[in-house]
Amino acid sequence: MSENIYSFLTEESSEEELFADEINTDDALIFADEVSEIPALLSWKILIVDDEVQVHAATNIALRKFAFEEKTLNFISAYSGKEAKQLIKDNPDTAIILLDVIMETDDAGLEFVKYVREELDNKLVRIILRTGQPGQVPEKDVIINYDINDYKSKTELTTSKLYTTILTALRSFSLSQKLQVEIEQRKQVEIALRYSEEKEQQKAIALEHSLRELKQAQVQLVQNEKMSSLGQLVAGIAHEINNPVNFIYGNLSHAHEYVQQLIELVTLYQMNYPLPATEIVNYIEDIELPFIICDLPKLLSSMQVGAERICNIVLSLRNFSRLDEMEIKPVDIHQGIDSTLMILQHRLKAKPEHPAIEVIKDYGVLPLVECYAGQLNQVFMNLLANAIDALEEQESRKDCQGFKPQIRIRTEAIQGDSSNGNGFASGIRVTIADNGAGMTETVRSRLFDPFFTTKPVGKGTGMGLSISRQILVEKHRGELRCISLAGQGTQFIMEIPNSLATKSPTTPKCHTATLA
Ligand SMILES: Nc1ncnc2c1ncn2[C@@H]1O[C@H](COP(=O)(O)OP(=O)(O)O)[C@@H](O)[C@H]1O
Ligand SMILES: [Mg+2]
Repeated sequence: MSENIYSFLTEESSEEELFADEINTDDALIFADEVSEIPALLSWKILIVDDEVQVHAATNIALRKFAFEEKTLNFISAYSGKEAKQLIKDNPDTAIILLDVIMETDDAGLEFVKYVREELDNKLVRIILRTGQPGQVPEKDVIINYDINDYKSKTELTTSKLYTTILTALRSFSLSQKLQVEIEQRKQVEIALRYSEEKEQQKAIALEHSLRELKQAQVQLVQNEKMSSLGQLVAGIAHEINNPVNFIYGNLSHAHEYVQQLIELVTLYQMNYPLPATEIVNYIEDIELPFIICDLPKLLSSMQVGAERICNIVLSLRNFSRLDEMEIKPVDIHQGIDSTLMILQHRLKAKPEHPAIEVIKDYGVLPLVECYAGQLNQVFMNLLANAIDALEEQESRKDCQGFKPQIRIRTEAIQGDSSNGNGFASGIRVTIADNGAGMTETVRSRLFDPFFTTKPVGKGTGMGLSISRQILVEKHRGELRCISLAGQGTQFIMEIPNSLATKSPTTPKCHTATLA
């Protein structure tokens, strides 16, 4: 019974003898890989852990000529669990551990298994338990509780059995290793893919962002262009009307005076020549002279009132367009609001479908404010037009019998203090409030988004508030806030500093708040 590889050591038999009885067995196939001279450069590391020196020597001799995938074996020897721990730590590429269980302690081997699998997290190395006392370490328990790959008793390990065991273990190690490499490569590819995907995504986001900005800039440009051409048109009309109206207005007082004198003259004639010729008497009757004398001054007065109104309109148009004021100038804010109201007069008047919108002016005493007058008028225009829209919407609701549409415009001088937090020393606040439809929380949160509108196509552009905010916040270092609740009206509050130089360059603010 010289089959057991450990027994030959005591029998002092030669190596040839040792393998002689096995060379012709069926296991011969597994030696196909065996070659006599393979450079030991590339080899499989086998860690033998056993406190019996003979076991190391016997394993070495038994597997001396072993080769797999053109690689020989490279044996590393440890004689205790402790020594094995250090060696496996230093050789993480070890393929197989042939492990004794009972060494310095009863479970030194099993503790080592735990160390390899859990502490070193080495799941790849094949661990083959070789125990001399199989009864002491029941196979089933060990396999279940410890992550080992094979369990052999030393007595059953003949040379050929050892060959098969090592070959099977190496095959599975090699396969696992290749799989791991592949997994690793795939992971790398996946990471690279994810990275490039992320980059693409970021690029797409950036592109979307710049597209949006471009679109916004374009609309803004168009809007500015519109406002500027509207301004030019208004200024042109105002200029053209101004001259002829001045002829009328300027001559009306003279006409009034001359008419008075002529009437005086007729009266004098009547007094001094009470009996005129029949032709004159007939003509006086025909033209109803007493009526003319009574009506002519009234007629002239109403012409005067009309001409004055035209003059005011012209003045408002010129104020509104403010073409002469492209740069910063001290401006009377009330004038700006009034001329905007004048432009919107046609929308404020009573119509068959709704009553007139009452405009309540609650003007405070304001200093002249340094600003871009034309742009500020654009803001007033947007806020007032929105208020009128909201009032018309409320009006169109069925349950609004007796509804009195109102716009309240309040102006006040403000001192920049810690409570308003706007960061300027002194400025003005204009509040434009309407008792119209108000808005929902969702609408309120998106109010200043470019292109956001709840109005039908063709009516709303969704740019009014976004542009207004830009004019106030960026051009005037001010603020625009909105307070609103659905069905309870809306307030827009704008604040700007008196002088653009005094505002500290803090981040511009623009926020919405809820009605208390
Ligand atoms: N005074 C207001 N009352 C109710 N909703 C308002 C008021 N002002 C603005 N809104 C809401 O804000 C949206 C955006 O306004 P705006 O930017 O001026 O664009 P547009 O008037 O073209 O819709 C409006 O569609 C409307 O829903
Ligand atoms: Mg609008």
